[in-house]
Amino acid sequence: ESIEKGGYPHFMLKEIFEQPRSILDSMRGRMIAESDHMMMGGIREFENKFVNAERIIIVACGTSWHAGLVAEYLIEDLARIPVEVEYASEFRYRNPILSERDIVVAISQSGETADTLAALELAKSKGATIFGICNVVGSSIARATDAGAYTHAGPEIGVASTKAFTAQVTVLSLIAMILGSKRGTLETTKLRQLMVELESIPAKVEKALELNDQIVRISEQYKDATNFLYLGRGYNFPVALEGALKLKEISYIHAEGYPAAEMKHGPIALIDAQMPVVVIATKDSSYEKIVSNIQEVKARKGKIIAVVTEGDTTIPAMADHVIEIPETSEHLVPLLSVIPLQLLSYHIAVMRGCNVDQPRNLAKSVTVE
Ligand code: G6P
Repeated sequence: ESIEKGGYPHFMLKEIFEQPRSILDSMRGRMIAESDHMMMGGIREFENKFVNAERIIIVACGTSWHAGLVAEYLIEDLARIPVEVEYASEFRYRNPILSERDIVVAISQSGETADTLAALELAKSKGATIFGICNVVGSSIARATDAGAYTHAGPEIGVASTKAFTAQVTVLSLIAMILGSKRGTLETTKLRQLMVELESIPAKVEKALELNDQIVRISEQYKDATNFLYLGRGYNFPVALEGALKLKEISYIHAEGYPAAEMKHGPIALIDAQMPVVVIATKDSSYEKIVSNIQEVKARKGKIIAVVTEGDTTIPAMADHVIEIPETSEHLVPLLSVIPLQLLSYHIAVMRGCNVDQPRNLAKSVTVE
């Protein structure tokens, strides 16, 4: 087993550090930035259906559902197709309204999650076209779909998903870009910029991984906290949910992810000097707004751990800790902003003596209801 871990103490840490590679593998062969050329077999096969889709409905569970939320922002913004993101377990029992013009996208690392499989079977019976995004070749979900695209993250052993999430977001970004260009909603210059930016992501993830030592020091200070709040807006809102889920899963600290502006409708009541608040506040269209959210937390003496864009000078003056990630397009920022959050949950869990790779009560793939 120690050989399989490749010198890392846990699979989870190994998988976090594999992300530059797994992201690259998930985009490899699917785009050539110099010629604006993008290709994805599964999309080509159903191109007309995709281009003319009335709605895209994404069904998934857990971390894959968070990747689906990122896709909602991406596809609506770049391809202007309405997207709904559903928990597979709710969707399957809700008598959902579906038509032949809907595309249902099932996202699953394992390809075996019972609720996701049942949701797509239901959608199929109602005539929707089913597209799968799976990491395991030949898995049940991959076999049950009409078409799909694999993530090439390689085997993920740690129960808490890390590299599968970034691989899913990579593939979903490609899909949003392809659909945007086919539908004419994404201009060629913008498309080309995004392609170049996506190509640079593996190197930027590598850079974000250099934050590891800094995150160990932050983890030491907060390992005994009983609650954590994670806030983000826009593309970083799903990242806040994912950061909170990671911490819950492996450290057993209660954590909530929230859209930063919703804080005033509840979670703000929890903030005091004991509450660490992780704010993902990269330079993007909601930057000014999230700066005011940070001030609201500080006014209540909460401890701010801020994930910011390199070179930010405003937030460091307000936050207790600042984690700097490389600059990128806001469309792709989840691929970078999630990295420090994965590391934070990992180190806190290790310091608390938790079984990081096999947390209590959780399974890698949930094949029963
Ligand atoms: C379990 C795993 C999670 C995963 C979820 C969905 O809860 O512990 O890490 O996100 O299932 O799994 P899937 O294989 O469908 O992505």
